[in-house]
Amino acid sequence: MNVRSISVPPRTTTSLVLAIIVIALCAAGPAGATGNAARGQTLYKGCADCHSINENGVGPMHKGVVGRKAGSVAGYDYSPDLKNSGIVWTEENLDKWLTGPQAMVPETKMFFDVPDAQDRADIIAYLKEKAK
Ligand code: HEC
Repeated sequence: MNVRSISVPPRTTTSLVLAIIVIALCAAGPAGATGNAARGQTLYKGCADCHSINENGVGPMHKGVVGRKAGSVAGYDYSPDLKNSGIVWTEENLDKWLTGPQAMVPETKMFFDVPDAQDRADIIAYLKEKAK
């Protein structure tokens, strides 16, 4: 990121405030974004075309997904690549997964991504709370 503006004396309070916001956002980073589970519940509707918490559908159920080993739900027919990936669904890995499943597991059969870091953090917060 370009931090040059910080070394220049701010001309107005507004630019100082903006600089502080930019620094705060950069420090938080994608994995560090704080998730809002209530917002995540609304966003999860986008996942619900294929997933639910308690039942397998197009995608595997999400019960206990945070901390779970990838490809481990009984009775769900995973792609061999995801099944053998050795991934554990930590919050960090879920963030990576939702950024682009194919970048993490090239032959996966999940074709859906969540480009916004805050949206990802909110969805993960929801899964952590509601899909225990
Ligand atoms: C269009 C259907 C579809 C949508 C929408 C979708 N997924 Fe998936 N998802 C899948 C499929 C299919 C798999 C199994 C992938 C495989 O076996 O390679 C999967 C797998 C997963 C896994 C791995 C689970 C495990 O047991 O290893 C996670 C986590 C996941 N999805 C989360 C999400 C979340 C969160 C959303 C919403 C932001 C979402 N998915 C949206 C189809 C979808």
